[in-house]
Amino acid sequence: MSVQTSASDDDIASDFAPRLLAWYDRAARVLPWRIAPGSDAAPDPYRIWLAEVMLQQTTVAAVAGYFARFTERWPTVGDLAAADDADVMAAWAGLGYYARARNLLACARAVVADHGGCFPDTEAALRALPGIGDYTAASVAAIAFGRPTVVVDANVERVVTRHRLIETPLPTAKREVRAALASLVPRGRPGDFAQALMDLGSTICTPRAPACATCPLSDGCRSRGRSDIERLPVKPPKKAKPHRHGLAHWIEREGRVWLVRRPGKGMLGGMRALPGGDWTDAPPADSGIVQVDHSFTHFDLTLILVRGEIPLAAAEGEWWPISKLDAAGLPTLYRKLTDKMLERHA
Ligand code: ADE
Repeated sequence: MSVQTSASDDDIASDFAPRLLAWYDRAARVLPWRIAPGSDAAPDPYRIWLAEVMLQQTTVAAVAGYFARFTERWPTVGDLAAADDADVMAAWAGLGYYARARNLLACARAVVADHGGCFPDTEAALRALPGIGDYTAASVAAIAFGRPTVVVDANVERVVTRHRLIETPLPTAKREVRAALASLVPRGRPGDFAQALMDLGSTICTPRAPACATCPLSDGCRSRGRSDIERLPVKPPKKAKPHRHGLAHWIEREGRVWLVRRPGKGMLGGMRALPGGDWTDAPPADSGIVQVDHSFTHFDLTLILVRGEIPLAAAEGEWWPISKLDAAGLPTLYRKLTDKMLERHA
């Protein structure tokens, strides 16, 4: 049985991309990895891929400095592929989700080893590279190579669930969002279309107090005028996060502190850190000199710092100058702890 769409739905569908793109032509954000609409400059797949990987789970503002430092130090995918793992991990420090940094390197190396240093130009071939998931494959294929893919990030989910009044909770709603978008992607400007939806989601169709009066899509929006628009997209019920505990050692000698590298796999894998034991469900008996609370995606952690005397004989590590701790590339958790420790002893 075929599904009848009303004339108004057809009108909305045929207006959606032209209205959105006309708005984007006026209002696109200027971003360092972006080719401005109307420019005939060629997109650089390396910069687009790097930005899309960095932008997952975080904001344009948080990424800007990292993007500038990475592209200055490693201007091409070949430069990044040839970088030392430790340098890349340290440059990533603070962005979080460190598995992404390890995958970033693996991907750069695969592009060099298997694709002659050029990113493949289809969604499927991109998806086959290490660390490239559905979102990154679709966004790089659209933005760098003009492929008409369906790109769905959190901003796009918000815009589309509101526009089509999709009340299914996430993550199930994603399927409906994709289905709603699939027929709307314009063949001529798929990359601009994806980025326009992202910009609309971050500047107009915001989580709180969306600026519906200035929205280019408000005419066909099924949530228009509803006072409860902020409840979309409907989130899944929140799971209680487990609380874990850990202990780190401050081992100091002649102005230096003992740092180790965490094992390659697992939380903060491959990153420099203070030495310490496993993180457990039970709090340690000691109360520590300083303490920090840190929230990871799947658990909260309380980490305390205790003074240690000497590094374990077998442990690999290095004596790092305390005055240069800024340059150690410690992940945020350990940065918070060392900052507190140094404040206390300033
Ligand atoms: N968020 C993720 N990717 C983006 C992009 N290309 N432009 C704007 N915001 C984004």
